[in-house]
Amino acid sequence: MAAGIDDIAIYIPRLYIDAADFAKARGLDPVKLQKGLGVSQMAIVDANQDPACLAANACLRIMQKNKLSPEDIGRLYVSTESAFDESKAMNSYVIGMLEQVYGQGAFEHCGGVETKFACVSGSYALYDNTNWIRAGEAEGKHALVVVSDIAKYDMGSSGEMTQGAGSVVMLLNDKPRLLAFDPKVTATSIKDEYDFYRPFGKETPIVHGQYSNLLYMIQVRKALEAYKKKVISTGLIKIEPGETILDHMDYIHMHLPYSNMGKKALAYLVRHEWRQLPRWKRILQEIGVEEPRPKDPRGTIESVLADEEFMAKDHEFTKLFTKTQEYQEVYESKLSSSLIASSMIGNLYTASLYLGFRSSLEYEFQKGIDLESKRVGFGSYGSGSSAMVFSGVIQPEYKEIVKDMNLEAEIGDRKKLTWEEYEELHENKLLPEESMVHSKKEFVLVNVNTDKESRGERR
Ligand code: CAA
Repeated sequence: MAAGIDDIAIYIPRLYIDAADFAKARGLDPVKLQKGLGVSQMAIVDANQDPACLAANACLRIMQKNKLSPEDIGRLYVSTESAFDESKAMNSYVIGMLEQVYGQGAFEHCGGVETKFACVSGSYALYDNTNWIRAGEAEGKHALVVVSDIAKYDMGSSGEMTQGAGSVVMLLNDKPRLLAFDPKVTATSIKDEYDFYRPFGKETPIVHGQYSNLLYMIQVRKALEAYKKKVISTGLIKIEPGETILDHMDYIHMHLPYSNMGKKALAYLVRHEWRQLPRWKRILQEIGVEEPRPKDPRGTIESVLADEEFMAKDHEFTKLFTKTQEYQEVYESKLSSSLIASSMIGNLYTASLYLGFRSSLEYEFQKGIDLESKRVGFGSYGSGSSAMVFSGVIQPEYKEIVKDMNLEAEIGDRKKLTWEEYEELHENKLLPEESMVHSKKEFVLVNVNTDKESRGERR
């Protein structure tokens, strides 16, 4: 039975901080943000928004657009790493808000949980719900998987320049118009790690930035190796001599904590795959320098990062590699369109991979490319840490959905924050009634109780 993504909707807060203003206030070179990280603007939540409100707004959009009633929805999963309750699941908050529109008890038989594994949890939720459909448990109903996050880092930290916020919801069913997932090839990699984590009661994470970058690439590569074995053993893909698994993916979407992380990760995977091929000799000749090796090739991530000579040489080598024509073709055709939304909106943690998918659909379609039957590979990563690699095929009906996509219109009119406004919002100094954007047609927080039995109120 086919199962996959039938439609996709987004909700992005309309406030943003501009990368140039951010760089000026923090005394940074704006080129570091714009070119080094690929960050142009970062969406920031208003004083009356939390991740549950963002998720509910995205859900309402997809339900209204597809004229779905609550009885059509068998499952509603929310994946987030911005959870604000240690026990009560975020999908219950979302259902609470949706029932203000559809009536009390309207979602009574809609199952679901909140899933957590940093940025990869949405991919696990998609996988589980796809299998719920494949198992015949859905009985004609749809599943909603919502990925919703506020990526917020400490003031003045290196992560602060990679913030953002937003929600993406995917409607899953057995007749998906957008993308059918390839069965029995989803692969994972997992290891107990502390690259990025948020202990109880802390609003912002503890991050080991460069460690997390390298771990992300290693974990995705391991998951790709496992995926490769599965596609070969199931007969889904035949890899001919001289080819790599990446040749069989028309598009490759990576987790995007900032848009250039996608570029870095793709270059890492391509380098790893091409190293085994005859073409590598030619590429090395074109680059003109030897590929560097760490002093201790079997060492830990810490020892590799501490090997300053290797890190500097490897940085230089990667730069030259990404300039080769062969790599440029891969980058332009398989990844580049997925980065556009990320650079306008910033980090969406769980949602950033799927915003990338959404971005690629819109901008590739605008180029006039026929997307039918194209295979899309996904490289998902969550700190702590786990990676997931899986794939799907774009379905013949995709145009019905993609022709109406318009990222800027879906975000709506945006307001650029002054530095003072940004600081006030970041430090939670404003009450919900002091919000900067007013909309009567959206779910918002109307009240936050600061006492220990806080429930908050959303409308
Ligand atoms: N002009 C042009 N480019 C410049 C520049 C300048 N003046 N200064 C620096 N750059 C380039 C650097 O060369 C570098 O490019 P490469 O990646 O190609 O090497 C890039 O800009 C970033 O510079 P640094 O690496 O020096 O930046 P940093 O160390 O200050 O911070 C960061 C980068 C570590 C990612 C930091 O933003 C951070 O800690 N972010 C949060 C953690 C994170 O996002 N990790 C990603 C993987 S984990 C994950 O994905 C889970 C998740 O969602 C959080």
